[in-house]
Amino acid sequence: MRKCFDKSICGPGQQRDYREDKRMADLTAEIGGVKFKNPIVVGSASPTMDYVGMREGIEGGAGAVIGKSLFGDSGKLGRKYPRPRFRLFDYKDYPGYPDKLPHAFTLNSLEECSRFGYEEYMADINKAKQEVGERGTIIASLSGATMDEWDTMCHMVNETQADFVELNISCPFAADMGVTMGAGDVDRAPTIAKACSKILSKPFSVKISPQTSDPVEIALAVEKAGACAVNLSARLSGFVIDIETAAPYGWGSIGGYGGPYLIGYGLKFVSQAARKLSIPIISGLGVWEWQDIIRYIMAGATLVQSGVGIMLQGYGVSKKWAEAMSNWMDQKGYESLDDIRGIALPNIITTDFVERDPEGVHAAIDTNKCNKCGVCKRSCFYDAIKVTRTGAIINANKCDGCGMCVEVCPQDAAYMVKTRG
Ligand SMILES: Cc1cc2nc3c(=O)[nH]c(=O)nc-3n(C[C@H](O)[C@H](O)[C@H](O)COP(=O)(O)O)c2cc1C
Ligand code: SF4
Ligand code: SF4
Repeated sequence: MRKCFDKSICGPGQQRDYREDKRMADLTAEIGGVKFKNPIVVGSASPTMDYVGMREGIEGGAGAVIGKSLFGDSGKLGRKYPRPRFRLFDYKDYPGYPDKLPHAFTLNSLEECSRFGYEEYMADINKAKQEVGERGTIIASLSGATMDEWDTMCHMVNETQADFVELNISCPFAADMGVTMGAGDVDRAPTIAKACSKILSKPFSVKISPQTSDPVEIALAVEKAGACAVNLSARLSGFVIDIETAAPYGWGSIGGYGGPYLIGYGLKFVSQAARKLSIPIISGLGVWEWQDIIRYIMAGATLVQSGVGIMLQGYGVSKKWAEAMSNWMDQKGYESLDDIRGIALPNIITTDFVERDPEGVHAAIDTNKCNKCGVCKRSCFYDAIKVTRTGAIINANKCDGCGMCVEVCPQDAAYMVKTRG
């Protein structure tokens, strides 16, 4: 059958070609007058160590890249890295690896800042912009320890071709090398943002560490200080002790500590901040798959960055994520990110509104599925499960309805029922 591409003139016997009708969801975003072709950002980390990496990040499908952070001269020890500097826990031993990757693992690392000094860093940002042109947004990341350093870096970055600037006050371990900066200086973020806003001629975000008593309050103060956006995606710090050597694995000190399991921690801050802030939020702790990007946008984010996700799945994963998001949005009828931004917020309640002690909720077992393994019994702390020859049985009078047996049952034989109320 002949194809008809102009629906107004499709004649008899012609099949209408719907390609022209297929509208792709609009993934664009905007912050401070800067346009982003999609909300995916390659976070400041090894993949953005120089202009080559930044170019690869954009070619891999991301809307923006954040260069690895420039530390001021007082933190220049961070320009030298331990070797090796990465430690992955619970990663390679995942069944099916490397075709299948785990969702819960830890990347522990000690890689503080860019290896570049001030001039080299600015020159590299310029090269990145020249290579990428209008195909993507280049974000320079600055991290000072003194007001003089912030002052110098802001003046210098003004002279570059960076589209956007990030003030990084989040490094989880910089303060451990004896310099007051990053997570060790996060309470001063509003003061720093105010001082830098007077110098910067470009739009800027402030990346805030969650390692402080109230990151959302700091985000609010940073907004008042003139930031165009806040970035709430910093990792925690920590180490794991090798019991054979009684020392931390790897380089012997704390390092960045995180992985996809931190997404819940990130979503909490983003949703809390989204309720209070008027400026856009850059989010992204623990992004591992495209659904995580949607999750952050539903919690109120405008851009979503990935560090570990890109490091372990490669630059090209951004393209896959963008396509998957776009397809999903098309299927759901969402036309743009505005349609989903913040839509989860009304469904997120505070703990005082949670329904407690609802009547008649207890577990039940599908004996056709149950293989009598007893896994549920060992995790039932209400003594409500008996494993018999025919399968597990629930004593509804003892069952508290906690739901643990459903979560642990390997056969999906346990399920919850509500018999009253
Ligand atoms: C190896 C490594 C190096 C990093 N370097 C920087 C940095 O120089 N500047 C910065 O702001 N964040 C840095 N980060 C933090 C990431 O930008 C990101 O905020 C963090 O990894 C959380 O996101 P993720 O869970 O997607 O990795 C680094 C992270 C990793 C893993
Ligand atoms: S864990 Fe599941 S399969 Fe195992 S005994 Fe309990 S209900 Fe049966
Ligand atoms: S819901 Fe909780 S209390 Fe009830 S049987 Fe399962 S584990 Fe036990």
